[in-house]
Amino acid sequence: MTSIRELPSQIGQTVTLSVWLQDKSGKGKLQFLKLRDGTGFVQATVFKPEVGEAVFETARHLTQESSLRVTGEVRADERAPGGVELAVSGLEVIGASGDYPITPKEHGVDFLQDHRHLWLRHRRPWAILRVRDAVQRAITDFFAGEGFIRFDAPLFTPNAAEDSTELFEIDLFGEDKAFLSQTGQLHAEAGALAFGKVYTFGPTFRAEKSKTRRHLLEFWMIEPEVAPSDHQQNMALQEKMISFIVGRVLESCAEELTMLGRDVEKLRPTAEGNFPRITYSEALERIRGVIESGELPPNVPADTQPVEWGDDLGAPHETIVGSQFDRPVMIEKYPAAIKAFYMQPDPEDARLALCDDMIAPEGYGEIIGGSERIHDYDLLKSRIEAQGLPLEAFEWYLDLRRYGSVPHAGYGMGLERLIAWICGIEHIREAIPFPRMLTRMYP
Ligand code: 4AD
Ligand code: MG
Repeated sequence: MTSIRELPSQIGQTVTLSVWLQDKSGKGKLQFLKLRDGTGFVQATVFKPEVGEAVFETARHLTQESSLRVTGEVRADERAPGGVELAVSGLEVIGASGDYPITPKEHGVDFLQDHRHLWLRHRRPWAILRVRDAVQRAITDFFAGEGFIRFDAPLFTPNAAEDSTELFEIDLFGEDKAFLSQTGQLHAEAGALAFGKVYTFGPTFRAEKSKTRRHLLEFWMIEPEVAPSDHQQNMALQEKMISFIVGRVLESCAEELTMLGRDVEKLRPTAEGNFPRITYSEALERIRGVIESGELPPNVPADTQPVEWGDDLGAPHETIVGSQFDRPVMIEKYPAAIKAFYMQPDPEDARLALCDDMIAPEGYGEIIGGSERIHDYDLLKSRIEAQGLPLEAFEWYLDLRRYGSVPHAGYGMGLERLIAWICGIEHIREAIPFPRMLTRMYP
């Protein structure tokens, strides 16, 4: 059996394909079949004088998404995507398909999401989820090349790590409770002190009631953690990883990006590295400047207010800062009070944390959050207490500071946010096979 992807190298040969029918059209003695097999898409022609009455009638009565075995000659055709088409000589229906719900007409996004299990067969999800695969492979290759080991964190955890209001609680047979992990970071820190350079790569959960185009309840995060390391080295690693991934996708996913209508020129600067770094305070000045000029980038509401020192940036603010650069920008040294308890204070100004958020261009907002970690036992303990977090759940985490502590750092990248930006899609729900959101648990 040949795959559609292999056809350009088989011109002049007769091949057999296992395919599904996407669509068909025809007139007189000709039928045009649009076929897909998961590796790609191809058009096949069925010409009555060549195939005879029986095969032609079978072709004429085919329905959308029937599975087929098709035999034919591969012919060069400059107008066809991929440069080839198939001249059919034989055709057999394997599985019939009646009243397939997703017709070639336009459907609303809710309808498509209700039929996600079938929608996956169509071109747009095909392109996006192949980019997802390429990104995941690039990540694995990048970290292997940098001497990291993959270190999987548990998905049930005893402790909160990020905003504790966003925890999913699990009842452990009525006796105890656990949480679905918001981040693998804390366990990755144990890994870093054991292995030096590790990364986790798995699902994480946030009970966020916000319905935005950047939030899922279940999303995949990649979390490298390095010991010893510091804030500067941490930012350098983020930049190197993102430019590696984007470079790889540009190389290997040209067909997918074209299918999505993505302007790839907008991604090229990212592959070069050299990401700008600005401080939180500088970001506030830039935001104020843009708001005062009245020249807001697209998707920023006209009533957006400047950020007061000490407040967090909202999505419109990130869009303003991100729009000023042709590649991701790293905003560093946020006020410690609006960041997580484990972040190392800036030695030059204890009000600040040695942290950064990486903001993607074109309005895609935060894709990475990272920091140097507090390595001092007393300071970390006091921060846990100050947050009102239960000390018993963090005894293991404090052990990492009791036994041979060392400055270390890491970050988390939201996989779906990165993919949404690379693909240039509106909403991150399309960047994962089956999105889980406040309004979506089916299928
Ligand atoms: O900034 P966050 O909350 O950082 C952490 O969880 C750290 N523990 C990471 C670390 O240092 N190891 O989340 C990291 C990234 C965000 O930048 C964003 O890309 C993504 O995770 N993210 C989400 N993606 C989709 N849906 C959500 N609800 C997300 N929340 C965060
Ligand atoms: Mg964050």
